[in-house]
Amino acid sequence: AAQASLNLNNIQGDILIGMKKKQEVFFFFSINNVKTFKQRMKVLSLTVTTTTQLLDVSKQPDAAVNVAFSQSGLTKLGITDSLNDTIYTNGQFADAANLGDPGTTNWVNAFRGTGIHGVFLLASDSIALINVEIIAVKALFGNSITEVYRLAGQARPGNQAGHEHFGFLDGISQPAINGFAPPLPGQTPIDPGHILLGETGDSLTRPAWAKDGSFLAFRQLKQLVPEFNQFLANNPINQSGLTAKQGSDLLGARMVGRWKSGAPVDLAPLFDDPVLGADPQRNNNFTFAHPGSDLTSDQSRCPFSAHIRKTAPRADFNPVNVNNHIIRAGIPYGPEVSPKEAASNTTTTERGLAFVSYQSNISQGFRFLQMSWANNPRFIFGKSDPTPGFDPIIGANAGQSRFVSGLDPNDPNHDFTLTTDFVQSRGGEYFFSPSISALKTVFSS
Ligand code: HEM
Repeated sequence: AAQASLNLNNIQGDILIGMKKKQEVFFFFSINNVKTFKQRMKVLSLTVTTTTQLLDVSKQPDAAVNVAFSQSGLTKLGITDSLNDTIYTNGQFADAANLGDPGTTNWVNAFRGTGIHGVFLLASDSIALINVEIIAVKALFGNSITEVYRLAGQARPGNQAGHEHFGFLDGISQPAINGFAPPLPGQTPIDPGHILLGETGDSLTRPAWAKDGSFLAFRQLKQLVPEFNQFLANNPINQSGLTAKQGSDLLGARMVGRWKSGAPVDLAPLFDDPVLGADPQRNNNFTFAHPGSDLTSDQSRCPFSAHIRKTAPRADFNPVNVNNHIIRAGIPYGPEVSPKEAASNTTTTERGLAFVSYQSNISQGFRFLQMSWANNPRFIFGKSDPTPGFDPIIGANAGQSRFVSGLDPNDPNHDFTLTTDFVQSRGGEYFFSPSISALKTVFSS
């Protein structure tokens, strides 16, 4: 159901469309002086980047800034209204075990506990401009804040721009928000209230000022790229007509559900198709259902366990699921794999994904996808194989080995045992990204 258009001047720019910049710094801070902070926020709120500004290329600022707050930040600011999201209120540190993390000893120290009050998201195509922006923010807020931690993300170089560190094109499939943009072929339309508080589709009671805000789930996800590549090299899918290298590429594509170009395996089951991958009219136009094939048993095209199927099961749900969707706005961090790391099949310098997702309900959004789907070997339910296994990319089993089935198209019941988590949690926090009008009032003085 289409609905009256959203107030895009009031919604922070990252939420619905992402920053669309090559560089993004996450600047995590704590608040020391509430009075000064609110005075300075009054000034910053005038320059916080809106959705309108990012939509229109001619209005795009050279450097964009967004801001979001943890529950401890709200509490520090004396904001006592409940946003009515227990997971947010308790913070991500308390949620580590539920998310499947093997404890929190691998967490970045700053994320251990509830000491982070907020995060500035600073984005630009130029790191120099971001650094100017950081200096300006620090000058503005002065001693009212302390920088607790900083993570610098950047698009990968050259033709890898837009690809995450394992090499796969990212940021292709997002839900289409009713009243915002018409869906591309294959996009699932959802009501804006699944992403934005207080909008159509958000059925929970919220304070009036929370309208047009969104919960930001941040995760620093380390990726073991040489180890992932070694696993593919050691386990090529044995298929007539494919070289070992092609068999390894096929295994990787089946783990993700897409080839490195972005082409979905559901439409390109044996070989990558870069023209398909680059075509927004076609690269998301699939449901996993095919005439004459049995949706409950056929994994010849896409495994039930593939990352994009575990996190967005499309026709596996009837009617289609509209309740468990997120908008992803992450960016890779860390350097490219060095020749030494590649040769030794061993990560020595950390790299990964600065994962960001937006949703109006954390337990239905990020947390649901991670905990109830990716980490649940029985999901997708109702298949001829009752245990499709873990999501091979992000599924977590508290550090224990994970089994994944469906990866071999010739023997879908063959369980692969993954003894390494190629994606490892370094922790994170849950934030709330308020509307511009809330920033100017509730968060300012
Ligand atoms: C899609 C990689 C973490 C949820 C994708 C795609 C890739 C990818 C390559 C396909 C491109 C696209 O459709 O945009 C990764 C990597 C991760 C990671 C390398 C960790 C380092 C996560 C997490 C979640 C998640 C933590 C949620 C819990 C999704 C969703 C989609 C997706 C919902 C879109 C599925 C669809 O609509 O078809 N991811 N991802 N991802 N990922 Fe991830």
